[in-house]
Amino acid sequence: MTATTTPAAPATAGSGTSAAPGAPTAPGTATSAATAGVPARARLRFHRLTVTAVEPVAADGSAVAVTFGVPAGLRGTFAFVPGQHVTVRAVISGVETRRSYSLCSTPAELERHGTMRIGVRVVPGGRFSSHAAGALAAGDALDVLPPVGAFGTAFDPARRRRYGAVVAGSGITPVLSLAAAALATEPRSTFTVVYGNRTTDSMMFAEELADLKDRHPGRLHLVHSFSREEPRLGLAGGRLDAGRLADVLTRLVAPERVREWFLCGPEGMVRDARRVLAEVAGDGAAVHTELFHTGGPRPSPATPAAPPPAGQGRQVRVLLDGRATTLRVRGDRPILDDALPHRPELPYSCRNGVCATCRARVVDGEVRMTGNWALTEEELAAGYVLTCRSVPVSDRVTVDFDVV
Ligand code: FES
Repeated sequence: MTATTTPAAPATAGSGTSAAPGAPTAPGTATSAATAGVPARARLRFHRLTVTAVEPVAADGSAVAVTFGVPAGLRGTFAFVPGQHVTVRAVISGVETRRSYSLCSTPAELERHGTMRIGVRVVPGGRFSSHAAGALAAGDALDVLPPVGAFGTAFDPARRRRYGAVVAGSGITPVLSLAAAALATEPRSTFTVVYGNRTTDSMMFAEELADLKDRHPGRLHLVHSFSREEPRLGLAGGRLDAGRLADVLTRLVAPERVREWFLCGPEGMVRDARRVLAEVAGDGAAVHTELFHTGGPRPSPATPAAPPPAGQGRQVRVLLDGRATTLRVRGDRPILDDALPHRPELPYSCRNGVCATCRARVVDGEVRMTGNWALTEEELAAGYVLTCRSVPVSDRVTVDFDVV
């Protein structure tokens, strides 16, 4: 998963990744606010959490929500802002498996009840999702990394704002958290969700959305779109592509009045929605995006290559937990891949530039990123990189994982 924030209408065509004037708190700031005072060491390591519930959240059984109990002593470490995600780790059939999932619960639930909930879509053949839906049960334990991610905003009780979201499938997961938090925190704000699914039965969190609507009468507006069911309400059926989205937004949402947009789903849907919003959104509206898939193949093998011959390669210094490790990495190899055998505790999940779990800061030298679907312009400007997608360019490079 990855998050960025941009104005709806870029200042120049094909560019524009900085926040709009008057835009919400920069995503990186929101992340820092949730984790203030928590040592990097605690945020970069897995903590064993007990599963308190595994519940179906789609009528056709294609998705579950997993609830974790967070002990009082770890609630600061797991403090989060709506829209963030966690990485879970489990050994399944003898294979260590890591996956990132968005949180669908709210920070208030963590504070009040000590619980945190993720949404998991069951992917055919998916090792973790099949395990979660078929075997995981209350009382089991999973290793969980504290929440990360920049897909969100800072809600303010004094604010009166229209929020909008365009999501497809499991893209509803972080938006459920965002909508619930927005409506609870800002009593005068409204939230519209355009939600695309194949069928009614495959829709995730239908009950939770209905409950949220009941709790906040007249403030949550849901617009459903089903690609494999008969058209409804006079709308054309089909996938939420650019044409259909433009039709839905202009006819049912009054997009020019929405101040902040949240787009979450597959890359094609997010790209289409951005293009449409550039045309129909109001001036100065901010657009936050989160991708669930990059569509690209894994760029590098999971096992390290042979170290470069003596005297060749780049010298890479890795700082984690206050300890430095120096190794040599070939100029075409991601730093993370070759550093893991030396520092197996390095944080990672997707290894494909999507989840930002492997984020670190370059404090010396230069790297080249071969892909980035996770970091914001602000983070890039501050020297952060995704180590799973960074190859060393200069002869000496130092990356610091302790700067969060
Ligand atoms: S971005 Fe996911 S591990 Fe690097």
